[in-house]
Amino acid sequence: MLPKDQNELLTRTGADTLMGRFMRRYWVPALLSEEIPAPDSPPAQVRILGEELVAFRNSQGRIGLLEEHCPHRGTSLFYGRNESCGLRCIYHGWKFDVDGNVLETPAEPPDSEFRHKIRQASYPVHEAAGVIWAYLGPRDKMPVFPAYAFAQTPLDQTYVTKCLLECNYLQGLEGECDSAHLSFLHRETALDGDQSLYQGDTAPQYHTEETDFGIRLVATRKASETETYVRVSSFVVPVSCWVPAGRRRENHMYVPYDDTHAWRYDMGFLNRPVTEEDRHRARQIGPDYRRIRTMANHYLQDRRAQLTEDFTGIEDFLNEDACATETMGPIFDRSREHLGASDKGVIAVRRYLLDAVRSFEAGNEPPHQVTDPEANQQTHIDTLAEVIPAGRHWREHFPHLTLSSAAATTAVGR
Ligand code: FES
Ligand SMILES: [Fe+2]
Repeated sequence: MLPKDQNELLTRTGADTLMGRFMRRYWVPALLSEEIPAPDSPPAQVRILGEELVAFRNSQGRIGLLEEHCPHRGTSLFYGRNESCGLRCIYHGWKFDVDGNVLETPAEPPDSEFRHKIRQASYPVHEAAGVIWAYLGPRDKMPVFPAYAFAQTPLDQTYVTKCLLECNYLQGLEGECDSAHLSFLHRETALDGDQSLYQGDTAPQYHTEETDFGIRLVATRKASETETYVRVSSFVVPVSCWVPAGRRRENHMYVPYDDTHAWRYDMGFLNRPVTEEDRHRARQIGPDYRRIRTMANHYLQDRRAQLTEDFTGIEDFLNEDACATETMGPIFDRSREHLGASDKGVIAVRRYLLDAVRSFEAGNEPPHQVTDPEANQQTHIDTLAEVIPAGRHWREHFPHLTLSSAAATTAVGR
């Protein structure tokens, strides 16, 4: 269990909170590239970390991420006109460029210098793997975007979805750091034939270790007398967990929308072109990025199927995860929980985050900040699921899984 004050510390992410300031020191997903697909396409409303923002792609393809409310009298720029390299407010026609400069104030006298005194808040963005990432922290502290494997993967080998989760981000994130629920909640999920492996041994052995990016989580199950089934996940500070979805590598991210909602991003990055089946989750999500199966309709649970063919009676693991985490309540009171041996990963990640934010509060830099583009090797961050010979240590089998990027460059075989 977690005392109430620690629960508050981890779950509150507004700009005036410690965790909010900590998260703003990282690149976080702001929206999908598909939301503003082409130059001059309609702008998109962006809700992250309790902020109200608007994103647009200008005539040259550059992306702007601005405070949503017009600095004149507050009208939403989301309804504005995206035209000729700027976003124009529909109330009195003020026009802004991607950096927040006021280009025109047509309702003011022609000789007005007023516009030079005003600047709309704008945030740096980085587009990679079908996602537009934002940095909402102090400019002089902006890190280099880490050279993650998904950002180096060709776009036709990646897929990504987003959908709203009706609870605090941490509930979603903790679900990714918990391999044990696979054997129950996702028991029938057909993942590249691995389901018999996690059905066979429902009480995995856990190993967790602190790394320079967060926490590596290793779950080992007995596959047979001579083989072990190893699943390696990586919690990457602050809101990501790389998990094996069968033999596919995925990165699941939970970005606070506000403190009682989060955006779940599911990103896959493969060593082959993506197929329609890889994108199965997209069928569960409406055009407004809300799931069709929600708490309000009881996830359209099929009680007959639950008795005869399926542990949950709920279609798709996206909805199963949502049911498990949203039904805890908007912000779960963790002082009421009872953690067991299967929660070792959850405990390690919470401990890591608590230590990291307290160290940050004491004036230290947050962990996993890439500042030198020349030292941006991230190949030690990985996720995989494999059957290896029993008795062989997983680290011997996967020598690239080092504790730090410095060690990765000198690891055996690299
Ligand atoms: S409120 Fe936007 S131009 Fe007046
Ligand atoms: Fe899950």
